[in-house]
Amino acid sequence: MVLETNGRVCYNTGIEETERDMERTKIGVFDSGLGGLTVLNEICRYNDGLDIIYFGDTARVPYGSRSPETIARYAEQDVRFLLAQGVEAIVIACGTVSATCIDLLRSRYRIPILGVIEPAASEAVRMTKTGHIGVLGTKATVQSGAYAKEIGRVSEGKRVTGVACPLFVPLIENGFVEDDPITLLTVERYLAPIRNTDIDTLILGCTHYPFLTNAIGAFLPGVRLLNIGTALAQKLSHAIPLQKNDAPSDVAYYVSDDDASFRSIANARLDAIPAGVVQKINIESY
Ligand code: DGL
Repeated sequence: MVLETNGRVCYNTGIEETERDMERTKIGVFDSGLGGLTVLNEICRYNDGLDIIYFGDTARVPYGSRSPETIARYAEQDVRFLLAQGVEAIVIACGTVSATCIDLLRSRYRIPILGVIEPAASEAVRMTKTGHIGVLGTKATVQSGAYAKEIGRVSEGKRVTGVACPLFVPLIENGFVEDDPITLLTVERYLAPIRNTDIDTLILGCTHYPFLTNAIGAFLPGVRLLNIGTALAQKLSHAIPLQKNDAPSDVAYYVSDDDASFRSIANARLDAIPAGVVQKINIESY
């Protein structure tokens, strides 16, 4: 049973909150908006027994069309907000931040910080048979070349083709998903150059893109799509020392703007996540 208590969504497991808090690692998960929910969904699927604080920077989405300096400034404020909530580790549920400033964040904040690039790159290398991997991402992510660099570090001789898809995030944040004709046309426009190539594995390199899995999959039949949230969630407990218990993970949701629309899109698209209570915060004050 799901309970809504004091701004938090909790599962009623019959275990006292104090007992759980003592045993569980509190992790922070953040993204520019809704996209990180696709990572959160996978973290909860593969990891019971955590306390999670989710932050979506809905006031400043999209990040991916901004300069690396601006993205880093936003990401630092996101991290400082999560640290103020007492998190002991951070998951960057954002391809753009992971691609452009994870090293900076790791050098400034001395807690474990995990991004999506490393787990996704090793999973893509494991999946590909042709050795040609595609990467869809935001403009900042594709320009950074971060996926290609990490794939090259993990395995020699792989070909990587990046495609920037800057319109996907605004479409998704506004609820234009899957079978909407504008979305289908945009998918076709961006992906036509990689259709009928020898790419056999496609990294959905932005955490928003799993909302378009069916549309992308239908346009590129036979290509295996990699959800970077799944790759990260499966490796989470190896990458970060976690203390878990047997109860389901609890999630508290925070956004920087328009909590109602975040809640309705999250509930409509990701019914595994009980996004019942969402709190709005002023991210500029962090
Ligand atoms: N979901 C993010 C990513 O993975 C951010 C997209 C954006 O805000 O542009 O890149």
